[in-house]
Amino acid sequence: MDHRSAIRRLALPGAVLLALGGCTGGAGKPGAAGVRDGLFPKLGNGGYDVEHYSLALDYDPARNHLTGTATLTARATRDLSAFNLDFAGMDVNSATVGGERADADRAGDELTLRPADEIEKGARFRTSVAYSGTPKTLTDQDDSHEGWLRTADGGALALGEPAGSMAWFPSNNHPGDKATYDIKITVPQELTAVSNGELKSKVTAGGRTTFTWHTGEPMASYVATVAIGKYDIAKESKTPSGLPVYTAVDPAVRKKTADVVGRLPEIVEWEKENFGPYPFSSTGVIVAPEGSAEYALETQNRPVIPADQLDNETLVHELAHQWFGDSVTPKRWKDMWLNEGFATYAEWLWSEDHGGESAQAHFDEAYAKAADAELWAFPPAEPPSAAEVSHEPVYERGAMVVHKIRRAVGDDMFYDIVQGWTKEHRHANASTEDFTRFVEEESGKDLTDLWDTWLYGDGKPKSP
Ligand code: TRP
Ligand code: ZN
Repeated sequence: MDHRSAIRRLALPGAVLLALGGCTGGAGKPGAAGVRDGLFPKLGNGGYDVEHYSLALDYDPARNHLTGTATLTARATRDLSAFNLDFAGMDVNSATVGGERADADRAGDELTLRPADEIEKGARFRTSVAYSGTPKTLTDQDDSHEGWLRTADGGALALGEPAGSMAWFPSNNHPGDKATYDIKITVPQELTAVSNGELKSKVTAGGRTTFTWHTGEPMASYVATVAIGKYDIAKESKTPSGLPVYTAVDPAVRKKTADVVGRLPEIVEWEKENFGPYPFSSTGVIVAPEGSAEYALETQNRPVIPADQLDNETLVHELAHQWFGDSVTPKRWKDMWLNEGFATYAEWLWSEDHGGESAQAHFDEAYAKAADAELWAFPPAEPPSAAEVSHEPVYERGAMVVHKIRRAVGDDMFYDIVQGWTKEHRHANASTEDFTRFVEEESGKDLTDLWDTWLYGDGKPKSP
């Protein structure tokens, strides 16, 4: 700490403080309010790296009211006089840094915390924000909804791709900063709260139940979740390798979803054979009430799938994201095709291995689409806008890129590459450039034409 911060704590009148500050000059500057993501420039913050989030939440569904305390352990990557967290919409009641009260300023979805003492580069610090209010539902650029969604069963569902986690806790809300989590959530005792990781405790007192979930492997904020509802949680270790499986199913749809949910262990085992060791310490699925979200999401450990979206392909897709997206996470949002291309290709491979259409047939059907089809609207590695990261070129043409690689290198090398990739970047972040370099190094092939045509090229490629 520099001596200016020591002087500040004497609480001198503002004018004197300014003069002193001007004389002595602090080394620290405010951390940036975004990490310059080309598609989402305001998401994330500069100047620090979060290591752990500890969230204590209390939800009253009748009032749609959330009370929370978020305690973050982080490391400063430069001298900091202040830093930002992404936080959308609730009231901040108090904030501390290093146990001392910090000034908290709010502008839009940016919360700026100014600690009493500057934080030195390399220092590990703890910051805590207490907040309350009605959590927001956010509307994405593609018009789908995320953040805090109320559900028909009197509960709620928190979903965060790409930005929605900031509706329920303050964070460094960019996939580039992964951290471990403890999520504790208290709800009326007739409801259940499901989250990521493993259930460590469930305690009922005074008509309310507190569920404590622990996530010990790094997690990106966009795949953090809380699902509150009438769920039955089943914990079984029925994969052959003994991996704990937590399934949470809305009882209203238990019967009609039982067959698909029952295949989960088999799907995870099949994916391990194809993609490499399972990256997390538990798995499962949350089958949410019908209509609770417009999409399924690969929330870490256990995807959220609204009952009306649940089928075998979707479960294969979302579980494949545990390797592609959740463990190997994009560095930037434009690298999304690494998530969606692989998760879509997993569906093609599953079908090929289970008596359905081959991956080649899926590829041929896609290639047969007319040159003005949405599939060819932009190259998978260059989504032109935030609204388009969820569009077909990222998913289906992304899968076509994966298939082109398989054809170029042959099946044996293809599976070596896939498993080498998930091993090399396990629990970390990777970009499109990291991927193309990796494929060329592993295979010893120059694939410049493939990348130029399929990954970066505009329009429908001239030959399949
Ligand atoms: N990632 C989800 C899936 O394919 C889909 C999705 C939900 C999504 N919200 C998004 C994709 C926001 C991009 C942006 O399994
Ligand atoms: Zn997906």
